[in-house]
Amino acid sequence: MKTIVLTGASKGIGYQTALKLLESGCKVIAVARSAEKLEELKSKASSPHLKIIPADLTNKDDIQKILKYVADTNGIDGLINNAGALINKPFSETATDEWQFIFDINLFAPVNLINHLKPYLNRGSHIVNIGSMGGFQGSDKFPGLAAYSSAKGALGVLSECLSTEFSSDDISVNCLCLGAVQTNMLQKAFPGYQAPVQPKEMATYISDFVLNGHKFMNGKILPVALNNPE
Ligand SMILES: NC(=O)c1ccc[n+]([C@@H]2O[C@H](COP(=O)([O-])OP(=O)(O)OC[C@H]3O[C@@H](n4cnc5c(N)ncnc54)[C@H](OP(=O)(O)O)[C@@H]3O)[C@@H](O)[C@H]2O)c1
Repeated sequence: MKTIVLTGASKGIGYQTALKLLESGCKVIAVARSAEKLEELKSKASSPHLKIIPADLTNKDDIQKILKYVADTNGIDGLINNAGALINKPFSETATDEWQFIFDINLFAPVNLINHLKPYLNRGSHIVNIGSMGGFQGSDKFPGLAAYSSAKGALGVLSECLSTEFSSDDISVNCLCLGAVQTNMLQKAFPGYQAPVQPKEMATYISDFVLNGHKFMNGKILPVALNNPE
């Protein structure tokens, strides 16, 4: 049975990805801040193979909670850095602490988690970083997303860099740059916009990709989009 650590599992794409991975026969370690929403996931999944860990990934002490649990497993086979946040604000109105907030969750949280979990990643494991089309080089760019798209762009390049650094340990790293998916995050950033993809559909793609994608590619920044508003 493969063990997958999944962040941002309390809602949206991550919530559905947790359910898909459990359906595929994986053990899932699901992380997000909201204990209440993770409990909802737990009762929906009703599976002994789901472990929920309420944790703020921007808080070093909380990352220790994840490590403590993982240290007692047989190692992990996949890590999906899905937790993220978005601010849609003109560049000139975006304060330094807002840039920091966006980089903390979209870039530094994956950096810290990968760094701490590296000793527990089994040979043949796969790290999947969830980027965005806004951070994909050459994509259409939208006003208001400078901080978010820059952080996601850096996450993509981080994925390329780590794929070479981790290859001797047989650990693959890829980045999926998602297009619009109908979630709270999208609704808040682009009120009224109707995305062509539902979280459940994207979850099917991501769960299959973490289990199988690295048999075919490593160090890739992949657009997963029908269109690209963010
Ligand atoms: N939806 C789209 O159109 C779209 C497009 C491109 C890329 N993406 C990316 O896809 C990923 C999932 O997005 P989504 O649309 O599903 O968003 P969402 O519904 O807002 O979910 C975001 C998840 O991240 C978690 N999270 C946020 N801050 C956290 C923190 N400090 N510590 C731990 N967990 C945290 C949230 O849980 P808590 O609030 O409980 O902590 C939640 O589970 C994100 O990385 C996003 O950037 C989404």
